[in-house]
Amino acid sequence: MSSIGENGAEFLVVANRLPVDLERLPDGTQRWKHSPGGLVTALEPFLRTHKGAWVGWPGIADADVDAFEEDGLQLHPVMLSATEVADYYEGFSNGTLWPLYHDVVAPPAFHRTWWNAYVRVNQRFADVTAKVAAQGATVWVQDYQLQLVPAMLRELRPDLRIGFFLHIPFPPVELFMQLPWRTEIIRGLLGADLVGFHRPGGAQNFLWLARRLVGLEPSRGAVGVRTRPGVVQVGDRTVRVGAFPISIDSAGLDALARDKEVQKHAKQIREDLGNPKKILLGVDRLDYTKGIDVRLRALHELLADGRIDPSEVTMVQLATPSRERVEHYKKMRGEIEQAVGRINGEFSTVGHPVVHYLHQSVNRRELTAFMSAADVMVVTPVRDGMNLVCKEYVATRYDLGGALVLSEFAGAAAELTSAFLVNPHDLDGVKNALDAALTLDPAEGRRRMRALRRQVLTHDVDRWARSFLDALGTQSTI
Ligand code: ADP
Ligand code: G6P
Repeated sequence: MSSIGENGAEFLVVANRLPVDLERLPDGTQRWKHSPGGLVTALEPFLRTHKGAWVGWPGIADADVDAFEEDGLQLHPVMLSATEVADYYEGFSNGTLWPLYHDVVAPPAFHRTWWNAYVRVNQRFADVTAKVAAQGATVWVQDYQLQLVPAMLRELRPDLRIGFFLHIPFPPVELFMQLPWRTEIIRGLLGADLVGFHRPGGAQNFLWLARRLVGLEPSRGAVGVRTRPGVVQVGDRTVRVGAFPISIDSAGLDALARDKEVQKHAKQIREDLGNPKKILLGVDRLDYTKGIDVRLRALHELLADGRIDPSEVTMVQLATPSRERVEHYKKMRGEIEQAVGRINGEFSTVGHPVVHYLHQSVNRRELTAFMSAADVMVVTPVRDGMNLVCKEYVATRYDLGGALVLSEFAGAAAELTSAFLVNPHDLDGVKNALDAALTLDPAEGRRRMRALRRQVLTHDVDRWARSFLDALGTQSTI
């Protein structure tokens, strides 16, 4: 398929971030690096194969960058001023919507100036997209930062086929109803031809709100996973509402894990850690929803109880810096670093810290080596739309080794039922699951990993994108 027609792009992704992130170095020069987060991890391989176009923010304020092509992908930057970064991105997107949609695990703030910036920036994304999309093009709008774009874009370009996918949880209706601009958001999303969520529950909540807030008559049947979407008539248009659990490039990661150099690196990591009997691994953006504090608390108690011997078990926590100017994030970083310091202070010996904490992002190969080296992957979010890290771990374990401890509150838990599933609010439960994973019988471990891999390898990101685009009715053209 060639998606870049003479008169514009025929297939576009519109997301807050471009897949690459502009970085200004202290010497005044600039360079592009890979953008953080699961949205980019999931969509980038699909988009690169299908040579689409991507509309998004380059990641820093006041960056006036022209459209450019990178490896067959057309990138269309949208500029944000420093005030808009503060009010639209850090403010309404990550100080209001992110905590509200993640079960208010941190209190959301409601500010009219933030909302006004959100409207203004959503309009800018719609304007740029309307300019670069070909007649009758398919536009796939992504995530909570851009929920008004579908209706704004439809107003400008009724010829387009518009899909929307939410990468984070869609909250229970009682929580959504707190939002002063709740009706505007629902109307914004209803501008799409297809609105997609990870789980049927999110779709069901959205349909309820379309009735309650907009007075529409949505279908009442249960929404299935990739099947039986809900429908709602909006004027002369039919909007579909479905559940499409996202995934990863499973085969690509499986192949990378089998690479000899990656395996050598995995061995080196174990050696560098002092050849501990067991390695625990956490990999997350440094976000308060990820439950990094939960796993550190569980580890601390297991050490204090004498159930874990600090000379035998080492934990590695890789934490990508994220949203560092947002208040909740600053506070949480301090708390996590204190918890790491406390464990190491009480249980380490010279040259052998119990917890290795890296506030850094590592590249794909290195990450795969860490996952290959880890005996237990610990994924304990208090709420997560899907969580790709757990699927990545499973994809790397072609040797059927390792064990996965996974929170019930990650969307992935519905699919990865052979993991050690935990309630992150139940500390004793988390401790027991860690203990069980660390002392797992190898045959039982292989049985569990085989089942997990069957799921992850047969449900990859390509299948996710295809099922969404099929339901949008554009599959034949993309
Ligand atoms: P989220 O999108 O909320 O960040 P996901 O688990 O869905 O959470 O996706 C996170 C993505 O970022 C995964 O692809 C994961 O491998 C990657 N990632 C997270 N932390 C790191 C890190 N420290 N270094 C490299 N990659 C990371
Ligand atoms: C999650 C969100 C994405 C976001 C990513 C990284 O995956 O769903 O929309 O891009 O986190 O967060 P950031 O704020 O750095 O874009």
